[in-house]
Amino acid sequence: MSENSEENPDLTPAEPHENERDLSIDAQILSDYKGIIPNHVAIIMDGNGRWAQQRGMMRLKGHHEGAHSVRRIVEACRYLNVGVLTLYAFSTQNWSRPETEVSGLMKLFGIYIRKERNRLLKNGIRLRVIGDREALSKGLRSAIESLEAASKDNTGMLLQVAVSYGGREEILAATRKIAEAVRAGELEPEEINEATFGRHLYTGGEPDPDLVIRTSGEFRISNFLLWQLAYSELYFLDKLWPEFTKNDFYNAVIDFQKRERRFGMTSEQLGK
Ligand code: FPP
Repeated sequence: MSENSEENPDLTPAEPHENERDLSIDAQILSDYKGIIPNHVAIIMDGNGRWAQQRGMMRLKGHHEGAHSVRRIVEACRYLNVGVLTLYAFSTQNWSRPETEVSGLMKLFGIYIRKERNRLLKNGIRLRVIGDREALSKGLRSAIESLEAASKDNTGMLLQVAVSYGGREEILAATRKIAEAVRAGELEPEEINEATFGRHLYTGGEPDPDLVIRTSGEFRISNFLLWQLAYSELYFLDKLWPEFTKNDFYNAVIDFQKRERRFGMTSEQLGK
């Protein structure tokens, strides 16, 4: 791939991908299992760069292929009636990547938001972008705000995309907001509890993730939803994000269904 095609890559969207063919088989597996579906799934989509580099392609090509996986997994979540899907798309720390990769990713987010608009709206999906949006370009911000406004009354599923997001940064931002509310006399220090704190986070009002998936064989949380992951079930798999199929997603859900979530209690207390 030439340098020019890295800057102007082929962005043809949403052609059915070969990995998308296996839905019916997977659906059968899952309907046989009849377990609890996680209400909130969060995903650390890792391995786009390696996927591309292993094929002698530019890293950005891996991100484009990763966008196909996003479409697949949004569909899979809708199919299972997952309530919230949170995707870690770009961390605060990712701003330090080479400029061409950063600008290519920003362009890709804008294209995804514009191209998927009708599809998301038609499927009752609400979009929310979490992170420091002041750091985004005006054009991207306005595309995000436009789709957030158009989808705000949708009740099908919340698609939360973390862009320019950091868990520590989110906690600091919430702390600052709370401190300002105390200084303004709107909040007493004694009123600061988990619920108050949670409401001041970017994810305020949404339940914590039940299941967190990370692809690419890395075992890290990487500054993702640090407050919200306190009791989430973690699932790591050794597959790069562009290769992540609906079947892989259903397997993660099936694994989740076998876990005993005790929230600090004993099995006996849970009545098992
Ligand atoms: C991590 O892989 C992935 C990212 C930093 C970008 C994620 C972006 C997408 C999947 C594009 C589409 C997203 C949306 C929401 C439309 P990496 O680049 O760190 O991979 P590596 O560890 O192999 O280098």
